[in-house]
Formats: sequence, structure tokens, C-alpha cells
Amino acid sequence: MAKIGPYEEHAGEYDGWFAENRFAYESELRAVGMLLPRPGAGVEIGVGTGRFAGKLGIRFGVEPSKSMRTIARDRGILVVGGSAEALPFRDGRFDFAVMVTVLCFLDDPDAAMREACRVLTPSGSLVVAFIDRDSPLGKKYNARKDESVYYRQATFHSAGEVTELLTRAGLRTLAFRQTIFGDPGAMTGMDPVREGYGEGCFVVVRADK
Ligand SMILES: C[S@@+](CC[C@H](N)C(=O)[O-])C[C@H]1O[C@@H](n2cnc3c(N)ncnc32)[C@H](O)[C@@H]1O
Repeated sequence: MAKIGPYEEHAGEYDGWFAENRFAYESELRAVGMLLPRPGAGVEIGVGTGRFAGKLGIRFGVEPSKSMRTIARDRGILVVGGSAEALPFRDGRFDFAVMVTVLCFLDDPDAAMREACRVLTPSGSLVVAFIDRDSPLGKKYNARKDESVYYRQATFHSAGEVTELLTRAGLRTLAFRQTIFGDPGAMTGMDPVREGYGEGCFVVVRADK
């Protein structure tokens, strides 16, 4: 069962976080944008309210929560219902696929990685952004996740675990970026985006087929 309950109930509130934490949002957008292959047809898996797809020019999305889909559609994203573990797209449909803070909610991450690979062209790329459980802030989030209506059900991953997942799916050439080095609510400007992982809470990895 997709873990969509909190998103179904609080879609507007979730979406509002990005406006209230503008600098964190912009830092994350820049980190994802840096590893996005262009040009090409792209899809965001677990597109949510379309905050990333909309700004990054990704036309297609898949999202299990109806409330989240409705907001993403208002942003002009072509969204279909479905889950990462069983994507409603034909083989080789996209040049790249993106997942932003979705991995931690998946019932079967390995199946999701295989599905992402299936819908990519033979030279396609998968970009995965996640909260790094082993980063200083990620450790705090993990310890306090029961206090969050959204993250209560999450299983956070380390960068090493994500690397293993991608490698098991047959992907290679991993490039990492990281950002968000302190409390997102206290930011007075964008955080830098650095190579690698280990310090930033928001990590992006690109893997090629
Ligand atoms: C933290 S939100 C991220 C949304 C969007 N990617 C963003 O960054 O704003 C997690 C999203 O994952 C979706 N989700 C949960 N389980 C999923 C699954 N099995 N397949 C695809 N999406 C899923 C939720 O409905 C929710 O929209």
C-alpha cells in the first residue's frame, strides 16, 4: 500500500511548506537541476504537487495521491495516478526520470528502481533526491520523525544504501550533489550546492543506464 494518507489529507499544507521555506526550496531545486540531463522527455515519479517538475520543466508526472495530483495539474504537469513500483508507462518512454523525497515512502524500493529503468531509454538517466539519514540534519530528522505527520511513515536511507539500490538496478556512473546544511526554517539565503555527500541533508544522485 502506497503511504499517501498524510499527503491525501494535507496536500495544501504540504505545498505551503515550500513557500514558507523559500530558501530551502530554491537550494533543493538548484541541486536537482544541476544533475538533470537536458534536453529530453522527463517524468517525475511521486511528483506530489509539482513543485519540482513545474520549475524544472518536467512535463510528466505520476502520483498516487489524488489531492496532490490536483495541485500538480493546476501547475500544468501532465500527471497520471499510479505508484513507483508499477509505473503506468511503456518501456523506454523517457530520457530521464526524477524522484524527489519519495524513496523513503516506498514499499519496495528495488521494484521502483527496476520500474524506473524499464521506462527509460537505453541511454536514460535516473535522478534521485533523498534525505541522507547519515548527514547531521538527517540524523536529527530520523530521531524525531514521529513528530512529523509526513515523515512518521518514512524509512530514511543513507547515501551508501541508495548507491546499492541503484547499482542493483543495473545503473552506473553516479554523481552526487548535497545541500541544506542547517535548519531550513532559519535560512536567510540559499545554501550552497556541493559535490558529494556527508554534510548536506538533501542529497541528489544521478545514475545512468
Ligand atoms: C515528500 S512528498 C514529495 C513530493 C514531490 N516529489 C516533492 O518533492 O515535492 C512524497 C510523495 O511521494 C508520494 N508517494 C508515496 N508512496 C508512493 C509510491 N509508492 N509511489 C509513488 N509516489 C509515492 C506521496 O503521495 C507524496 O506525494
